[in-house]
Amino acid sequence: MRVDIISIFPEYFAPLDVSLMGKARERGILDIRLHQLRDWTHDVHKTVDDTPYGGGPGMVMKPEVWGEAVDAVIASGRSAPDADSRALPRMVVPTPSGRPFTQEVALEYAKEPWLLFAPARYEGIDSRVVAEYGSRLRADEVSIGDYVLAGGEAAVLVIVEAVGRLLPGVLGNARSVADDSFAPGAMANLLEGPVYTKPPVWRGHEVPEVLLSGHHGRIARWRRDQALRRTLEKRPELIDRLGREDLDKHDRRV
Ligand code: ADE
Repeated sequence: MRVDIISIFPEYFAPLDVSLMGKARERGILDIRLHQLRDWTHDVHKTVDDTPYGGGPGMVMKPEVWGEAVDAVIASGRSAPDADSRALPRMVVPTPSGRPFTQEVALEYAKEPWLLFAPARYEGIDSRVVAEYGSRLRADEVSIGDYVLAGGEAAVLVIVEAVGRLLPGVLGNARSVADDSFAPGAMANLLEGPVYTKPPVWRGHEVPEVLLSGHHGRIARWRRDQALRRTLEKRPELIDRLGREDLDKHDRRV
């Protein structure tokens, strides 16, 4: 997957060299390209923002500079010798006023060959930028949670990691993706239950006996009960979203 990130803080993305994402890049599974937005300004101060129309606090990112930057990144993909001339990136604009970024959206993005991130600083990007690219690139405004960050860069790190770990060959054990909290299938709308490793007793705390039993059927049942209990306790609103088809006949007792 190719990932382009245009930002006034490209250095913010150094963590993408570390751990799983770093390995995915080394192996060529993730091709991450960072761009300095200010490279597309034309004034000596390299200005990327201006005061908002209608007044109010803060500054808004200028459409012209974003337009030139996005056009250049699109053109770089199209001129590559191996490029499919029809290929365009899916554009992702992180903002607290976007649609929620969920595991389902991560799975959707993981199918894309090319993502282009446009993280904003200040009060956001002039809305005409998403309007301009919306239909052409399927531009998506997404929020990683109901809180406000100082800028979209941290949100891009979150999204790239959530999507990157889903790409084939990134995780050692493909099953761990299926067992994740929120994974479609058995774990849809459920939180993963507790996990344990050796020793069997630590500071007086014992590992639940069933996990030592070697009985796969009982272990699977126990894990599902724990996931249901934990979800009911910590995220009761998720339980309401479970349909009849998501429950098996043993679930109803929990
Ligand atoms: N930028 C600032 N806050 C954000 C959030 N919660 N999600 C995505 N982008 C943001």
